[in-house]
Formats: sequence, C-alpha cells, structure tokens
Amino acid sequence: MCGIFAYLNYNAPRERRYILGVLLNGLRRLEYRGYDSSGIAVDGDLPAASAPAPYAGAAPLVYRQEGKIENLVRSVYSEIDEKDVSLDSAFNVHAGIAHTRWATHGVPHPRNSHPQSSGPGDEFLVVHNGIITNYEVLKETLIRHGFTFESDTDTEVIPKLAKFVFDQAHDGEGDVTFSQVVNEVMRQLEGAYALIFKSPHYPNELIACKRGSTLILGVNELSDQNSGKSFHDVKALTTNGKPKELFFSSDLCAIVEHTKNYLAIEDNEIVHIKDGSVSILKFDQDKEKPASVQRALSVLEMEVEQIKKGSYDHFMQKEIHEQPHSLTTTMRGRLKDGGVLLGGLKEHLKTIRRSRRVVFIGCGTSYNAALAARTFLEELSGIPVTMEVASDLLDRQGPIYRDDTAVFVSQSGETADTLLALDYALENGALCVGITNTVGSSLSRKTHCGIHINAGCEIGVASTKAYTSQIVVMAMMALAIGSDQISSQARREAIISGLSSLPRYASEVLKLDSEMKELASSLIDSESLLVFGRGYNYATALEGALKVKEVALMHSEGMLAGEMKHGPLALVDENLPIIVIATRDACFSKQKSVIQQLLSRKGRLIVMCSKGDASVVSPSGSCRLIEVPEVADCLQPVINIIPLQLLAYHLTVLRGFNVDQPRNLAKSVTTQ
Ligand code: F6R
Repeated sequence: MCGIFAYLNYNAPRERRYILGVLLNGLRRLEYRGYDSSGIAVDGDLPAASAPAPYAGAAPLVYRQEGKIENLVRSVYSEIDEKDVSLDSAFNVHAGIAHTRWATHGVPHPRNSHPQSSGPGDEFLVVHNGIITNYEVLKETLIRHGFTFESDTDTEVIPKLAKFVFDQAHDGEGDVTFSQVVNEVMRQLEGAYALIFKSPHYPNELIACKRGSTLILGVNELSDQNSGKSFHDVKALTTNGKPKELFFSSDLCAIVEHTKNYLAIEDNEIVHIKDGSVSILKFDQDKEKPASVQRALSVLEMEVEQIKKGSYDHFMQKEIHEQPHSLTTTMRGRLKDGGVLLGGLKEHLKTIRRSRRVVFIGCGTSYNAALAARTFLEELSGIPVTMEVASDLLDRQGPIYRDDTAVFVSQSGETADTLLALDYALENGALCVGITNTVGSSLSRKTHCGIHINAGCEIGVASTKAYTSQIVVMAMMALAIGSDQISSQARREAIISGLSSLPRYASEVLKLDSEMKELASSLIDSESLLVFGRGYNYATALEGALKVKEVALMHSEGMLAGEMKHGPLALVDENLPIIVIATRDACFSKQKSVIQQLLSRKGRLIVMCSKGDASVVSPSGSCRLIEVPEVADCLQPVINIIPLQLLAYHLTVLRGFNVDQPRNLAKSVTTQ
C-alpha cells in the first residue's frame, strides 16, 4: 500500500538521466505496493547567480501521473523534452524522492499523487506511506492560517505543516534546521506513516521519519573509493568526503540491486542525510529536542535474482514454481536430529505449553494458512486453538487473556489490522508470537518472539509461496510445542519425515501446470466457482477460492463441505463448476459421499484426489480429476493448494487480467 523511495548521491557526480533512472526503477520495484498513480521530484538546474532563487537550492521539478509507473516514465521524459530540461546536467550531490500510490484518500489523479507539496514553489515536498488520522483538524488549522489545499489526500497537510513550522521559525528567532522542522511536524501528526521530505530550503538534504509503516535506509559507499569495508554502525557513515549513494525505501527489494548495507528505521526515528553523513534522532512527544541515537547497519541476505522475473512471464508464476526451493529454505537448519529447532521460540516454549489457548490472528491468505495449521497444532500440543480474523477481533474487542498465546501470521509483517490486533493483544498481556516473511517488519519487532518463514521476497500481489511456507513454519511450531509429549512421538516423526519430502512433492505437483492451464481454459467463461473442502483442507478451499477471486476476478467461494447440505446445494446445476478436495485423510469417506450427492444433482465437478484414487468418482469419467501426490495428512494442504494456484494463474492470463497487480489490491495493506 504505497511505496516510497528516495535516492541521494553524495560526492558521486551523476547526470540527471542517471538519477531519474534510479528513481523510476525504484518505483518499478515497489509498484506491487500500489499502482494507481505515481510521482517523483528531482532538482532543476540552479538559477544563475544574477537571479537568486527564493531559497537556497534549485527549484524542484515535480512530475505526477495517474496510472502505472510506465505512464509516469512517459510523461516525465516528454515534459523534460518539451521544457528543454537537460538530461546531461550533472549533480555532485542530488536528492530525489519518488512515490507509487494505492489510493486511500482521493481518487487516482495527478493532483492526489505524491510528492504532495506545501504550495507554490514546492518549498516542502513529501512522499508518504500510511494514513494521517488527524488530517482534518490539521487542514482546518492550516486553512485558517491562509493555506489552500489542492488535493483530496490526507498527506497534503504534511508539507503544508512543514512550511508553516518553517515560516514561524523564520518569523521568530531565525534559523531552523531541517530536522527541527520535521520533529515539529511529527509532534502534530497522528496515525501511521513513513515519510520522506525534500526541500529547496535544505538543498542536497533528505529527511525520513516513521511511525508504523516500514522504512529502510540503504547505504552504498562506492567501491572505486574504498576497500569494500562493511559498515558496523551508522557512526561510520559520518566519514565525510567519500562518494556515497543513500536510499530510502519502503522495502528491501528496491535497494538490493544497489547495496546490501541497510538499516530498518525504527518507529519515531528521524533520519537526516546531510553532507553525506547520516544522523539518527529519536523523536519524543514530551521532549522539545530529539535525542541522537546510534544504530547498527545490517547486511541484506537477498540476491538480486529474487526481485527479477527471470525466465517467467509473471512474478506470481515464478513464485508458484519457486515453492520446492522456498519450502527448502523455510526448513533449512530447522529439522535437526529427528526434532525441530526453532531458535526464535526456544525460550518461550514452556510458557506456550502452559497457555490457556493459542489464538491465531491474521488476514486473508495468512489467516487461511493459520486455519490450515489449526488442527495439527491442537493435535500435537493438546492446547485449544481459536481463530481470529484480525479486523473482526478488533471490531468485537474479543477476549484475549494474559495466559493466551497469540500467534500473528503476516507475510509482510505490516498489515494494519494485524498490527492493531497485536497492540491489542500486547495490552491484554498475552504472549505474542510473530510469523512473518519480512525481517525488520513491525510484526517482527513488536512481538515477544517469532519465526521468519524465509520464503524469499514475494512480489506478486497474490500470496503463493509465503502461504505454503507459513503452513510449514506452523507445522514446525506445533512439533516444537508438542515435543514433550511421549505419546505422540511416532506421529511427530512421521510429520518430520513428511516435511523433508515436501519440496520433492511440490516439484511433482507442479508438473500439473499444463493440465491446470487446460482446466482454466474450460472455466474461462464461468461466472462463478465453488471449492469444497473439510478438515485439513477447509483452508485449501478458502485459499484456492481467494486466489481465483483476487487475480482472475471471477466470483469464487471456498466452503466447508459439511455445510453443503445446509444451503449451498441449492446452487448446484450442470453449469456451476465445483472443485471438491477429496485427498486421503480422516475425512475421505465423507468427501466421497459429498461427491456422490453432487453428482446425483448433475453438478459440474472437478475432484482433487490422491494419485491412484480415481475410483473416488463413480461412475468414472463423470468429472475431471486433479490427481496430487499423497503426503502426511496434515501436510497435504501444502501440496493441494499448488494446483489451485496454477489454476488461478492460468485463468487470469486467459481472461486477460493483470496477474501481478490485480485490480484495486496492493501487497501490504497498511491501512484499516
Ligand atoms: C491474498 C493476499 C492477502 C494477504 C492479506 C494479509 O493473496 O495476499 O489476502 O494475505 O492482505 O497480508 P499479510 O500476510 O502481509 O499480513
């Protein structure tokens, strides 16, 4: 939900052409976070000495455009051409900012795109990810002070507030630093945000700050000038005089091609880049001045290949096919000596075992993954497990107790509903465990303990490989919690051996690709699709239907097969396609009778069964089969979802929709 990016080159002469390239490419990497409009701000050429600018630096060039990033790219270059701006102008130091938007306040339109401006002259420009909850009050106040607003966004109050603070300081005692301005702006803002500020009053400086939304600082000290030493702390960054490139980004995938040295900026930190140095200040509402802090840089463990499509047409397709590998990396080093080793949980296992309940909390696909894990966690741990959709828990203010273990599942680790539910569980004193794919995310920082799923960067908006890795992590968590139970030793061993063979079976099930494409072409004109599952595979039904719904834009519902007779059966006719999941497990015979009941009503069935189980359908040939390899019953959802992901993918391509950027959706939903 919105991606922000900034690039500052220091002591490293770069042409405007290059700077624009870096900024626009950064936006392309972040486009999956929002793709209804975008914008950038770079420096114009400095005015001649005889015609001083009203402020210290060159007037910014600001470009905003509705639609995909490529629209912005086209309009930037055509405007540059029209206005005779030189692409060859070189800047020894230059600070540029960029934004890709997923609309929350105001329709997609250039005036609502970021950078948002303080007004004429663009004295302060801001790119924002998040939501300002008190923007109406601020707007009224600023209007009373003579500001006029052009956009429908909540963000516009921020640059205007910055200008207000700046003007007041100048009317009063005089000089005010960029970080003082931003500190004062933060004091006024409520809500969740990651912000980057640019101002011609402070040429060649950038400031970023955050509360809630993720923001990363990337630092690249250019190799022709140093021996490739790695940074140990931010203090090292104050080594002036060396050419550097500094980046701010909403996530790591936009900086990995430039540098592996990064810092996950923490809430209430203000990061100020000036003269090639980085200073980090801690904002405190009760203190007039922010305190200076030292932070260590981390080294990014991500390869550039992860953010590229390689030989695939789409990221979703790549990520589906990556699952044998992502499942391997999820388990790497964690299955040891016939047991499970989860460093992040080790210290807390005793507390979890004593819990009154485990409460799984998540949204969308992550909720579905937790649902898939519910049964085996109950079975292996003996602890009752309840399920909560994060927004519903908050709406109900549902009970969370001190002796609960609340497990938060989130690929991005930034989903607003999940994070608010986390705050709520923390307030209520529960032990909070995080399961996420995003190192340094708010979820991983705010929970007491947790497990990274290590599935690698997921760029397709529809979650695929993260889903299967989440289930595997929860299976390992269940094994770790239940490891003190002698009676279930044999069952645990069987599951551990099943886990080790999952990557191989995932490779096998991926061979159904062309069969799923063929099935998709037979469904291309259908208006609706039902998916029936039960037991371990109720979650597979929900998740399969969600994938079809969100990318192929086809109405699709996942249903509990046990509920079929209580209403949905009325929908059955020879036109409505219905997928029934009937792989081998304790519910198999019940699913067989569901199939019979549907066939006797002439239902148009597609049955997913274990390999060699075609006889589940009788008379044979009365419906299509998807035969999948059989694995340990509780791990079967990991395999069963893969053909449904392929089906959703092919259906989308055949129906001509955008696979990686489905209509109206964004990857991390950082607003409520
Ligand atoms: C669907 C999908 C969403 C997310 C949901 C939660 O493919 O990706 O349903 O699962 O928005 O996101 P995370 O897991 O980042 O909390």
